Amino acid sequence: MGRKLVAGNWKMNGTNADLKEIEALGIAWAAPRVDIVICPPATLLSRMAFSLGGQPIRVGGQDCHAKESGAHTGDISAEMLKDAGARYVILGHSERRADHGESDAMVRAKAEAAHKAGLTAIICLGESLAQREAGETLDVVGGQLAASLPDGATAANTVVAYEPIWAIGTGKVPSLEQIAEVHGALRAGLKERFGEDAEGIRLLYGGSVKPDNAAEIFGVENVDGALVGGASLKSTDFSPIISALESSL
Ligand code: 13P
Repeated sequence: MGRKLVAGNWKMNGTNADLKEIEALGIAWAAPRVDIVICPPATLLSRMAFSLGGQPIRVGGQDCHAKESGAHTGDISAEMLKDAGARYVILGHSERRADHGESDAMVRAKAEAAHKAGLTAIICLGESLAQREAGETLDVVGGQLAASLPDGATAANTVVAYEPIWAIGTGKVPSLEQIAEVHGALRAGLKERFGEDAEGIRLLYGGSVKPDNAAEIFGVENVDGALVGGASLKSTDFSPIISALESSL
């Protein structure tokens, strides 16, 4: 198993003025015992990477195109993210699946592009409230896992984030038993496909992770960290979540 991981997804938030949050995190976490990643909007990526310099906090993109370059106005390739200083890229977030019609096949193609560029893909999946209420959760996430991960996925180049859509930005969090059930099923699905190596693929939980619920979530079996939205925007919210993950070691 690699180190546990906390990743912050800034979504469509942040301008130059917010780089101070990163400076504060860099000072607070000069020698963390867990991996820390911030995924800012693409406009801030290279400045953030530059301001972090040789510090251990990594930066990542929030999406990439499946092609290396070409006539795709408004898109950004995995190579470009790498060039801007990214080490990671979030792929298949439910907001992109909803807003941009991204299918599992598209997410898989993007993950292949990310791997080729040397980026670690954080591949997101999760059920809607209607699917949860219909008892379809394990089928839905199992299907997304099978179809969104490329064959070349390894513990080094792939992280999986379980983000129930109904928990994102709502303050609602699944019960610890529900998180354990899904993460257990994802671990089993990974093992079945990738063998024992799958033990090392980190499984993050995402959806309304906050300083006051992080510790209990990190205590759940097969939870190797978190993908954090709103609470990653301010270092004063993000730092206690990182502390909770360190305390779980
Ligand atoms: P919130 O932490 O704001 O619920 O967002 C979760 C998320 O979507 C992270 O990718």
